[in-house]
Amino acid sequence: MTTTLITNIASLVTNDPAQGDGTPLGLLTDAAVVLDGENIAWVGPADKAPAADETYDAEGRAAIPGFVDSHSHLVFAGDRTQEFNARMSGRAYSAGGIRTTVAATRAATDEELEANVTRYLAEALRQGTTTFETKSGYGLTTHDEARALRIAARHTDEVTFLGAHIVSPDYAEDPAAYVELVTGEMLDACAPHARWIDVFCEKGAFDGDQARAILTAGKAKGLHPRIHANQLSYGPGVQLAVELDAASADHCTHLTDADVDALAQGNTVATLLPGAEFSTRAEWPDARRLLDAGATVALSTDCNPGSSFTSSVPFCIALAVRDMGMTPDEAIWSATAGGAKALRRTDVGVIREGARADLALLDAPSHVHLAYRPGVPLVAEVWQRGTRTS
Ligand code: NIG
Ligand code: FE
Repeated sequence: MTTTLITNIASLVTNDPAQGDGTPLGLLTDAAVVLDGENIAWVGPADKAPAADETYDAEGRAAIPGFVDSHSHLVFAGDRTQEFNARMSGRAYSAGGIRTTVAATRAATDEELEANVTRYLAEALRQGTTTFETKSGYGLTTHDEARALRIAARHTDEVTFLGAHIVSPDYAEDPAAYVELVTGEMLDACAPHARWIDVFCEKGAFDGDQARAILTAGKAKGLHPRIHANQLSYGPGVQLAVELDAASADHCTHLTDADVDALAQGNTVATLLPGAEFSTRAEWPDARRLLDAGATVALSTDCNPGSSFTSSVPFCIALAVRDMGMTPDEAIWSATAGGAKALRRTDVGVIREGARADLALLDAPSHVHLAYRPGVPLVAEVWQRGTRTS
């Protein structure tokens, strides 16, 4: 296997507190990394680096672990430009818009869906994302949900069954029968293709009891829970996530003090998705409140055609720093190590010997520039599983 030395890194975020400056970012200056095949073989000061087969000169730029985007909805067809335009003219966002994408997705061929996933993933990779999760949820029939998961699984191991995105329009008169379908035949067909199960727990989607039944059925089939919780209103989602030991409660925009306490005490990551608040002109989630209480926060894109049509983690970092009370260091940790925690992974989101060789080199002297220079394409090079992708 070929080894590659990346040297002359002015500032390296490792997310390994045992390294560097002793902060959670484990910041090293004048650093080098050696990649061996798909993994990292060595990390440390450039002047102590061992020899390697090949050398890449970072020319004094900053490097970070590749972003871990732990929440996206990439298997869909069509877009919702008109709905976005209407929202920007004052109309409110509602879960009902999901039906537009369900119709377009059902009508699409496998090839069209595959081409969309490939396109949005390539966008994300160019912006530094090396690990991503993605969900079904725009099929809402056994056939279409299983098809979405099979397509997603060609691109990532982090696949989530979201048959409970909304009640299928075919079951509008009988939501209980839809829950029966999701927890029965649909789950049986989908579980082999997924690692996670998710529910949109919200008014107009699924209530706490339905969400509990769906996630419990998923657990019994070997899937691990994560929840769309407390996005549009206060509700039971966050507490349910903690109760069921979900890896993540996602959105967390409307939280009571009891919700914040539950997240601080439990093992569930609070995943914040500022692209959604941006694109729905909604109130920002209060990251500062969660961090001060001791909760673990992840930052992800929620990339989907309705509420957050961005694949850019750097954009989400800039929003989180500007509007959610996060420091640049916290936001970068949350978009890398935080995302890894939300997926219960220890091999990504960190630059440490043995971890996956996933890193992004920035056209900047420091990771802080990701927030300081919003909207600027600072990701210069990306290595994914040891391969330079550009
Ligand atoms: O995470 N909240 C539910 N699902 C998506 C939105 C889906 C859509 O509007 O198409 C979200 O924001
Ligand atoms: Fe989502």
